[in-house]
Amino acid sequence: MAIDKRIEQLRKLKDESKLGGGEERVKAQHARGKLTARERVEFLLDEGSFEEIDMFVKHRCTDFQLDKQRISGDGVITGYGTINGRLVYVFSQDFTVFGGSLAKAHAEKICKIMSMAMKVGAPLIGLNDSGGARIQEGVVSLGGYADIFLLNTLASGVIPQVSAVMGPCAGGAVYSPAITDFIFMVKNTSYMFVTGPKVVKTVTHEDVSFEELGGAMTHATKSGVAHFACENEIVCIEKIKKLMSFIPQNNLDDPPCIKPADRPDRIEPELDTLVPENPNKPYDMKRVIRLVVDDGDFFEVQEEWAQNLIIGFARLNGRPVGIIANQPSVLAGVLCIHSSQKGGRFIRFCDCFNIPIITFEDVPGFMPGTEQEYGGIIKHGAKLLYAYCEATVPKITVITRKAYGGAYDVMNSKHIRGDINYAWPTAEIAVMGPKGAVEIIFKKDIEKSDEPEKVTQEKEQKYRDKFANPYIAAEWGYIDDVIEASQTRIKLIRALEMLKTKVDKNPRKKHGNIPL
Ligand code: HXC
Repeated sequence: MAIDKRIEQLRKLKDESKLGGGEERVKAQHARGKLTARERVEFLLDEGSFEEIDMFVKHRCTDFQLDKQRISGDGVITGYGTINGRLVYVFSQDFTVFGGSLAKAHAEKICKIMSMAMKVGAPLIGLNDSGGARIQEGVVSLGGYADIFLLNTLASGVIPQVSAVMGPCAGGAVYSPAITDFIFMVKNTSYMFVTGPKVVKTVTHEDVSFEELGGAMTHATKSGVAHFACENEIVCIEKIKKLMSFIPQNNLDDPPCIKPADRPDRIEPELDTLVPENPNKPYDMKRVIRLVVDDGDFFEVQEEWAQNLIIGFARLNGRPVGIIANQPSVLAGVLCIHSSQKGGRFIRFCDCFNIPIITFEDVPGFMPGTEQEYGGIIKHGAKLLYAYCEATVPKITVITRKAYGGAYDVMNSKHIRGDINYAWPTAEIAVMGPKGAVEIIFKKDIEKSDEPEKVTQEKEQKYRDKFANPYIAAEWGYIDDVIEASQTRIKLIRALEMLKTKVDKNPRKKHGNIPL
């Protein structure tokens, strides 16, 4: 064959592979408001940076006449490229080929780039759009899933793993995204569930739609499975890129710093008066965060779930940080089962990937009630505590107002290796709030008195004068300094700079046993 003929043949084969399941199915994909697998990759990566791998791979199944339908690429596009110049590995399932279903060959392609990503030390991004196990292949396909789950687990904490669910993701297939660090979903076109509406109807007699059972908003607001629910695929991909800008390539790398535009010594007088005089009045902790971080740019994670705890990424003088903050304007910022899970997992991500943790604290304690106790607040709260205790990255706390009871200990106190613990003058650090405390320690005085209300008020004032401040904790050295709120930004930046070379270690072990 002449050289130009060979090139012609190569180009033809590549073009065939690029066509996926054909024009009709591509049209159907677009009609659903979805991009094709290839369009998604092109939009995600820097222009012209995508290098595809395994575009000639085909399945080997001969059952159910599948040998007559052997499509190059086998329903998944895999390879590597860059996002803002930084290397990432990508797989993108192609719903136009056998509904993006996973065959042995399809799984092998995914596993190949996962292994490469781990060896090279670069993030893996999976774009999921699949009808699940390739039914015609049977158990071989299930084996393919298990191969992926194992690699997801081995890669956990070594390279960042991000999943976007952009179509169906059902049955056991959900467990690959579930093991990865972040799950993005797209409203109205993606869903995740272990069993679909039909099976639910048969087993529990519930009528539930795909969207209600496993849509983006369900997982963003109710289950907490999704970290981001996006309006459409373009927004979703933009958000993935933004997330990547905060995180390092692997567990041995530092997160990417940028040249800051914002002044490090910016003073914010608004912060000095932001906490209301009345300790029971709420305020918005997101306002505090935005006033402190570079350019007010806060990239919130799990925005719609367990809103009494805020988590997300930002920069301080160009350096990425993970932020965890109680939100006094939702349930008074109390810690509950969901917020503990949310905070615990986020801390562990930051600790895996060398991202310093900044905690803004205003917490009245743990949520009381049978629902919480029966639901296991003890073990779930312990997750948050364990995660903070275990983390060895730089850890800085700012107590803005309440730091009561066990929650004081949990929220990165000095005792569990907080490196720098600041308090604002408005801080109240005590075993509990004045009302609860007085009702216990002055119970007899109140009962004996002819004017119980007056006595209660007097005692509360006394308790408040003694404990509703940061100075006793500061006397013990549990608070490193009481700072003017307006100076929080510069104080945090200096502390982070000082902690840049921090080294701390945990005892050698196979792994800990976090209360799951
Ligand atoms: C083989 C599949 C397939 C699958 C879809 N297709 N799912 N082929 N194996 N699992 C094919 C269809 O035959 C069809 O081919 C094309 O993909 C598009 O599917 P449609 O049904 O026409 O699309 P739509 O109406 O949008 O419905 C999408 C769907 C539905 C909801 C995903 O296809 C579906 O219910 N599929 C089966 C899902 C399922 O039960 N999977 C197994 C789950 S168990 P043509 O040629 O007509 O275009 C599982 C176990 C994982 O995954 C184990 C891990 C431990």
